[in-house]
Amino acid sequence: MRKRAHKISFDTFLENATALSLSDLPNTWNQTVLFGNDAPLELEIGSGRGLFITQAATATPHHHFLGIEISKKYAAHCAALIAQNLLSNAVMVCADAHIVLKNYLPDESLTAVHIYFPDPWWKRRHRKRRIVCEPVIELVHQRLVVGGKLHFWTDVEEYFLAGLKSIATVSGFDRLSEVSENTDYDFGYRTHFERRTLGHSETVYRSLFVKNK
Ligand SMILES: C[S@@+](CC[C@H](N)C(=O)[O-])C[C@H]1O[C@@H](n2cnc3c(N)ncnc32)[C@H](O)[C@@H]1O
Repeated sequence: MRKRAHKISFDTFLENATALSLSDLPNTWNQTVLFGNDAPLELEIGSGRGLFITQAATATPHHHFLGIEISKKYAAHCAALIAQNLLSNAVMVCADAHIVLKNYLPDESLTAVHIYFPDPWWKRRHRKRRIVCEPVIELVHQRLVVGGKLHFWTDVEEYFLAGLKSIATVSGFDRLSEVSENTDYDFGYRTHFERRTLGHSETVYRSLFVKNK
């Protein structure tokens, strides 16, 4: 009689996979320590349920993907998804992305930065917590290589416009017209929030920038 293949459940991955913490990151940046080799590095800020990082790491095996997620629960979820998909080119870190950008990543170390549906922090007094703001975009600019890409999508028009303003203030980015709020993607969705937004027939405000100097 043929033995039935034992399928490992996602819950088992969730029990065993853990995201890294800041203390696991090399003080002097060393990608080989994290990934075992060197390759172009893409950063995702706020990975949520991990759909983007898993899809992107699967589709682009010759790049490395670093996901930063501040919530322990979601960082663990992402790490489990990465383990379940046997992805050796993706690493999850549970931390504040601002700190990772500021203190761990060196200049010109990133080939792309992905920010999808960042928390909008609706209350005016909380707005300073928004990740898409001038000081963070300044750091993103420094950490990207020339020609590196910044992807910023949201479902909140006001945040989108404020974000575009911050990006425009930090000189050294060109906006690429191939991605906008009017772009229709035929590959479906990239992230959990995008799926939700499209499911409600709401607009996704998308932008793509390239570092020009
Ligand atoms: C609205 S969710 C979007 C998740 C995912 N990008 C998506 O599109 O489905 C925003 C995520 O960013 C995370 N986050 C918020 N502030 C962060 C920060 N400073 N550093 C890293 N992650 C952060 C939140 O915990 C949350 O999972």
